[in-house]
Amino acid sequence: MHTENTYEFGLVGLGVMGRNFILNVAENGFSAQGYDLMPEKAEALRKEGASVGKTAATSDLNEFVSALSRPRKIMLLVPAGRIVDQVIEDLLPKLEEGDLLIDGGNSHFQDTDRREAYLKSKGIFFMGAGVSGGAEGARKGPSIMPGGAAEIYPEIQPIFEAVAARYKGVPCVAYLGPGSAGNYVKMVHNGIEYGLMQLTGEFYQLLAELGGFTNADLSEVFGLWNQGRLQSFLIEISSVIFSQKDPLDSGDLIDKILDKAKQKGTGKWTSQNGMDLGIPVPTIDTSVSMRAMSALKANRETADRMYEKPKRTLVDKAELEEVCEPALYFAFVMTYAQGLHQLSEASDEYGYNLNLATISEIWRAGCIIRARVLDDIASAFRSAPGLPHLLLSGDFVDRVSNCVPAARIVLQHAISNGIPMPALSASLSYFDAFTTGRLPMNLIQAQRDYFGSHTYQRTDRDGTFHTEW
Ligand code: 6PG
Repeated sequence: MHTENTYEFGLVGLGVMGRNFILNVAENGFSAQGYDLMPEKAEALRKEGASVGKTAATSDLNEFVSALSRPRKIMLLVPAGRIVDQVIEDLLPKLEEGDLLIDGGNSHFQDTDRREAYLKSKGIFFMGAGVSGGAEGARKGPSIMPGGAAEIYPEIQPIFEAVAARYKGVPCVAYLGPGSAGNYVKMVHNGIEYGLMQLTGEFYQLLAELGGFTNADLSEVFGLWNQGRLQSFLIEISSVIFSQKDPLDSGDLIDKILDKAKQKGTGKWTSQNGMDLGIPVPTIDTSVSMRAMSALKANRETADRMYEKPKRTLVDKAELEEVCEPALYFAFVMTYAQGLHQLSEASDEYGYNLNLATISEIWRAGCIIRARVLDDIASAFRSAPGLPHLLLSGDFVDRVSNCVPAARIVLQHAISNGIPMPALSASLSYFDAFTTGRLPMNLIQAQRDYFGSHTYQRTDRDGTFHTEW
């Protein structure tokens, strides 16, 4: 039995993420108490926490709340959606004015705004803080993306800075902005994650089917790429994945995994909100669509038998590897560029006042999209505050231009051999469109005016025009 006011940090939701996060907090010298409705989860934390700092765990909400020092700092790591509201309702009568609740899950940003306003009316502070890095990140150092009332952030800042991942000594956490800024940034992080994952998958298929790369080859190639400009968590783990043997049978595990990718919604929300804001994020959109496409397994298999595939022309391994590396780097850059552009627009639209350099910096370690290129991206935004788009940074003109020819070659291989690379295609078309001063939208405007009198503007004089076509 502990005495009152003894724990500096409380955490609700003792799943693997929650337990790991609390152990991380305790290991960094802060006393921490966990709560879970299920006694076995509290028990698991008690066991794991026995040798790590000062921790406690309980399934008694009164005990939990009363043993936290004031103002209370309580983080929720529970599944997004109604459970968050439920936990808030359970806690609310037991809290006191000035206490702070932090939602560390992947909540929709509009839910965060609603909850913040609701809790404010009760005198309780509420922050939405995106946490990335999976279970291992939670234990060893995640990237944390907090948003909410600036005046309350200092209460949690020392804990967040202690537990976050570090990039060259700098903690991968920063106060990002008011309201739902933290959840919004995490949502776009996940949209980018979807893009990078889809791209990685497309290059895997091309290398395997057109270059004849075995899993062992792929493991080696991804490992090699991870030494250079493509260095990133997703490339690194892919290299490991390709070398994993099947624990249940002979052969490689990757070959036995069903090709249906699930999703929990954050990628879709990024796309949906990109549409709402009028910001093109086609690589992300396509990646969400491809998860949906992957679910159509039975139809895909039937259609596979119904339609003839082009005769495949195998490409020399070394040659393919050489063009794939710059092409993948190019597409990664396009994905980050799109996500950051969406953030810049959302910042204006929702008043987040986001700093894209800071966001890129806190993504350099701990999170799923961490990558060497983020350091270059951060420098580009740091040296040109207000930069509206990554592609408009002088720093990136050569980096990108040098890779475009390879992206075209890779896509030509894919198209002529019937290998789907929609995310690469979307990335390249995005680049081609963004770097084209005049697009054929004059025809679209003419058509709109033709059938609907929607009017058009002219290139040579001001005003709005309509023609009787
Ligand atoms: C992270 C991840 C994580 C996310 C999973 C699953 O940053 O640690 O983004 O928050 O929940 O990646 O996402 P999907 O199930 O939608 O693929």
